[in-house]
Amino acid sequence: MAEHITAIIGGTGLTQIDGPEQLSAEPVITELGAPSSTPQRGVWQQQPVVFLSRHGHPHAIPPHKINYRANLLALQQLGVNRIIAVNAVGGIHPDMGSGAIVIPQQLVDYTWGRESTFFDGDFMPLQHIDFTHPYDETLRQQLLTAAKACNITVHDHGVYGATQGPRLETIAEIQKLQHDGCDLVGMTGMPEAALARELNIPYASICLVVNPAAGKSDELITMDYIRQVLDHGMHQVIRVIEGLLQS
Ligand code: HPA
Repeated sequence: MAEHITAIIGGTGLTQIDGPEQLSAEPVITELGAPSSTPQRGVWQQQPVVFLSRHGHPHAIPPHKINYRANLLALQQLGVNRIIAVNAVGGIHPDMGSGAIVIPQQLVDYTWGRESTFFDGDFMPLQHIDFTHPYDETLRQQLLTAAKACNITVHDHGVYGATQGPRLETIAEIQKLQHDGCDLVGMTGMPEAALARELNIPYASICLVVNPAAGKSDELITMDYIRQVLDHGMHQVIRVIEGLLQS
């Protein structure tokens, strides 16, 4: 079996990673510019991994200004052949409250104005990729198996709604997303997933619900609240990824 080189793209609450050993910075520049941060190469559970902080390190790049294309190209240049994206999200589905972990199987893209394809007729000739199943099913199942093995409860399905940010949504916007079938809302799921597909790199997301989406609780959403949920939940997310690497 070909060796896996697994990338972990960390989002809010995961701008650096503790698990991997022998971490070394791997500066890389792509034809489309620099990635959000210097990728870190390391070994985790005896597996080669590359960690990339999506918002930079420290966390400073807003979701709509991330150079997603450079991030994906950089990972490809480093030989990455599967990607686990970690996303902090708001929960819309009543079962997906703060602290819930979800491995989504579908998404709806509400973002706009982002460089969202390599096949723009400029960088590469136009192509229409299949995106029926936006996440790699094998990788999704491996994450689910890993979660089960380490006794961490995760939702095995969910529809991710990708919004523009950086502001959070209005109640009416969340009602619209819910009506569209979205269970989760986040700002960075797209175009990342589509770009991975364009490069043919299997990609799955592990989402941590850090707040009820707008109107889903009586409380105001504060960054302090989100930080508390992140601290606890990210440990569990990391354990699931560790389990995946062990398998
Ligand atoms: N909305 C959009 N993105 C988010 C949220 C939210 O409520 N929480 C974390 N990321």
